[in-house]
Amino acid sequence: MLVLGVETSCDETSIAIVENGKNVLSNLVSSSLSLHRKYGGVIPEIASRAHLEFIYPLAKEALKKAKVKISDLGVISVIYGPGLNGSLLVGLSFAKAISFAHNLPLIGVDHIKAHLYAPLFLQKIPFPFIGLVVSGGHTSLFLVKNFANFTLLGRTVDDAAGEAFDKVAKILGLGYPGGPLIERLAAFGEPSKIKFLCGNLEKKLNFSFSGIKTAVMYKVKYQVSPNVSGQASIKYQEKANIAYAFQEAVFDDIAKKSMLACLMKKVKSLVVGGGVACNKRLRQKLNNASSEYGINVYLAEAKYCLDNAAMVAGLGYQLYKKGAISNLTLNTKPS
Ligand code: KG4
Ligand code: ZN
Repeated sequence: MLVLGVETSCDETSIAIVENGKNVLSNLVSSSLSLHRKYGGVIPEIASRAHLEFIYPLAKEALKKAKVKISDLGVISVIYGPGLNGSLLVGLSFAKAISFAHNLPLIGVDHIKAHLYAPLFLQKIPFPFIGLVVSGGHTSLFLVKNFANFTLLGRTVDDAAGEAFDKVAKILGLGYPGGPLIERLAAFGEPSKIKFLCGNLEKKLNFSFSGIKTAVMYKVKYQVSPNVSGQASIKYQEKANIAYAFQEAVFDDIAKKSMLACLMKKVKSLVVGGGVACNKRLRQKLNNASSEYGINVYLAEAKYCLDNAAMVAGLGYQLYKKGAISNLTLNTKPS
């Protein structure tokens, strides 16, 4: 069965055609990122307008690339939330229109859960597993018993990991989005020059990254090469040391809590998705921790870590097989 996936939760417009939840025939992404860069973050109205412009030609192109026609499709799968409301509305309205006009079943898919489908394009993964989603909007741990049974075990109580990377990059004057820029800079950092710690929380599987972001801000403002007026004149090497220490602290915390979730739930598999999972240092730390604890870790290919419609089509297919059809009254759920 062919599923058309639609994803418009943030700045990426993405359309994919996936066969039987496994073979990605096309997965196209148009991003409005270049329009947001100068503002240092995504501007919702600009993102919605770009989705409107991109979505129709992108869908035509996705069908062409997959060498299929609309009449070959079996299901339309779409993210209805969480995300930016105006952006979600464009994708959801588009998906509803195709579903209505071509009499195709519509499946509404949760954005965070869709990220955990991404590693399944590489290999089969046995249930149950612990799902770790590390993205710009979320940092969450789930116990996943099947595609329709997710139990939230822990989540961030303030900033998401990607959000913290973006904010720290801004503090360091690096640009947006911050994740890849920090990763690149951290590679030049000197270990053990600086140490940061993530927040300690009563609920052991929750995360907090807002304190470490503030610690970075104070480090930059007051402690790095202060000049006569007390303002920082920060050198490249000092920036790299801060980026390194920040990245280490965040990823040690994520790796430790992911292992703890596996141990607490006596589960042997960890599945990881979301934009931050592109980061090679995080992948290395998760791989190291999992061999230490005897856990199998499943990571998505980088192109499926970031927002994309293939993961939406994949999860939509599995939910359809379980009989979960949405109707045309389905609304967005921004948070
Ligand atoms: O999953 P995603 O594409 O969108 C959301 O659902 O939020 O993730 C985007 C986030 C951004 O915060 C970005 O800075 C972060 O993923 N990111 C990274 C890396 N690449 C993207 N964070 C750390 N290291 C990276 N290499
Ligand atoms: Zn996402």
